[in-house]
Amino acid sequence: MSRQPLRLAILEATRLLEEAGVHSPRVDAELLAAHVVGVERTRLGLVPLVDPEVIERYRGLVARRAERIPLQHITGVASMGEIDLQVGPGVFVPRPETELLLAWALAKLEGTAGQRPVVLDLCTGSGALALAIAHARPDAVVHAVELDPKALAWARRNADTRARDGDTPIALHQGDVTDRALLAELEGRVDLVVSNPPYIPEAAQLDVEVADHDPALALFGGPDGLSVITPMVSNIARWLRIDGALAIEHDDSNGSALAAMLDQRRVFGEVAEHADLAGKPRFVVARRVATEAEAARRR
Ligand SMILES: C[S@@+](CC[C@H](N)C(=O)[O-])C[C@H]1O[C@@H](n2cnc3c(N)ncnc32)[C@H](O)[C@@H]1O
Repeated sequence: MSRQPLRLAILEATRLLEEAGVHSPRVDAELLAAHVVGVERTRLGLVPLVDPEVIERYRGLVARRAERIPLQHITGVASMGEIDLQVGPGVFVPRPETELLLAWALAKLEGTAGQRPVVLDLCTGSGALALAIAHARPDAVVHAVELDPKALAWARRNADTRARDGDTPIALHQGDVTDRALLAELEGRVDLVVSNPPYIPEAAQLDVEVADHDPALALFGGPDGLSVITPMVSNIARWLRIDGALAIEHDDSNGSALAAMLDQRRVFGEVAEHADLAGKPRFVVARRVATEAEAARRR
């Protein structure tokens, strides 16, 4: 059979995905085409005609996406900062909004050039934040914690791939970020804590892709979305050195609640809320300040 126009297949796919209720049908149709053809999405125009087998394979992937399987589970890849991560069933797919927290963290680390900063990523999932930071800052000593063995296996796979490609290896720990005894060896030693923890309030309505494919442990933070964050904050106070910083992503309903929670603790100062690209409250940052007793000991 003769070669066929890719553009027409993309139009047909867009229509199918739209009918299936996919939020960004055109973008997803193009990304799947780019995946099948093996080019960047922006270069699809350079591939006018493809073999019939390519169209068949493409239609197969589009049919899976029309079943509301996440795009990244079909391609097997998600990105964070400058790195790609392998993802699939059993692990949370990293989201674009977390890129803002990453950018804030990397800017914060600029003040630690040449000091081998210690970074801790809590609830690391695929290893997204930890590995993106290790890639951007090869001098950093990066630790990451994850509770779920299935997610941790994905993080290990990604960490091994990144290390093989020349990034500084990270230290992965299986553990519960709310456990008061976790990582005692890091107490008072961490320069920067980053976290995108489970934070969705239990009653929230979710898209099919999220509800059926992201693990529940990755999503829900109890009735108010703060059941992991609240005890985790006490641990962060323990791990951060004085003047160290934290950034925690949260549900858009919880920006002021989390900021108030940090403000109330005398170990945190310079609490600030940050919005995502849609203008919704998305992450809160703070600095670990010395208590009076700690300040007296330092004098
Ligand atoms: C929203 S996902 C975020 C993953 C990753 N940080 C990212 O941005 O892609 C939250 C992760 O926290 C893990 N998790 C949930 N409760 C935890 C706990 N108490 N201690 C450690 N990890 C936990 C989940 O298994 C999941 O991988």
